[in-house]
Amino acid sequence: MKQTEKHSPLKEVQALLEENQAPLKELDEWDDFVATRYRQGKSEEEFRNYKADANPTVTEFYRQNHKYQTLDFVLKKKAEYCGLKRGKKSIWEMAEYLNTLVDDSDPDTDVTQIEHLLQTAEAIRKDGHPRWFILAGFLHDLGKVLCLYGEPQWAVVGDTFPAGCAYSDQVVFPEFFTANPDSEKPEYQTQYGIYEPHCGLDNVHMSFGHDEYIFRVTEKYLPEEAQYMLRYHSFYAAHRHGAYRHLMDELDEAMFEWVRKFNPYDLYSKGRERPNTKEILPYYQELVSEFFPDKIDW
Ligand SMILES: [Fe+2]
Ligand SMILES: [Fe+2]
Repeated sequence: MKQTEKHSPLKEVQALLEENQAPLKELDEWDDFVATRYRQGKSEEEFRNYKADANPTVTEFYRQNHKYQTLDFVLKKKAEYCGLKRGKKSIWEMAEYLNTLVDDSDPDTDVTQIEHLLQTAEAIRKDGHPRWFILAGFLHDLGKVLCLYGEPQWAVVGDTFPAGCAYSDQVVFPEFFTANPDSEKPEYQTQYGIYEPHCGLDNVHMSFGHDEYIFRVTEKYLPEEAQYMLRYHSFYAAHRHGAYRHLMDELDEAMFEWVRKFNPYDLYSKGRERPNTKEILPYYQELVSEFFPDKIDW
């Protein structure tokens, strides 16, 4: 029997290995791009021109993200990580572990991973929000440990989007989806794809990344509003641009108010002064132990 040239898994794996899996100099380069993209006071016109803010590494990062985040990939990663079989650790052990994410960042100007979490949480605290909201700020990027588990950048960060249905042009760099094998599958390219109208986002497989992972790890300890903040904080097409409402149900609609409330703290707390970690740490230790047991499954 003749082998067809069309689909060769081996070739795909080889191509993947040859590609630079870490186009971003540091993971935060993606976060910085998003913050610039949504810089306060930007006009719609300026916003639409977001490509001007994307340097070649960020562009390459999105090219990979959109190409490789297939429904198959998402299901594989969920099976691998969402059963939380990587052992028990405390939130603090994981935060310390995330801080070992060594990159080319400048220690004088760039904040560490823990500092970003504390800055986000402190900005929420200063506005007088409830304790679970502050906690969500402190936890929201802990899922980036996926990078330390060996996942490529495109499987850890990036704007998230539903897999298994038509891509919205409200997702950044939508043209890169043409390289995604799912775009060749007609059953995944109708408006609803494999989903039912207003089935609820809990039934939708989002592109895999740090949002889904930290949601899974913490869901049973947090109120639903906080769960939504963690799970969908990178779903900009939906919470900033109102895309994919045809998949959302009433609960999603209500909960996205909270996702929108959370977003500015994530985006705009970075420019603030460095948090005085030593001074505020006792507050966060108490906050974490109010909601979590000593060790949880990761
Ligand atoms: Fe994040
Ligand atoms: Fe963040």
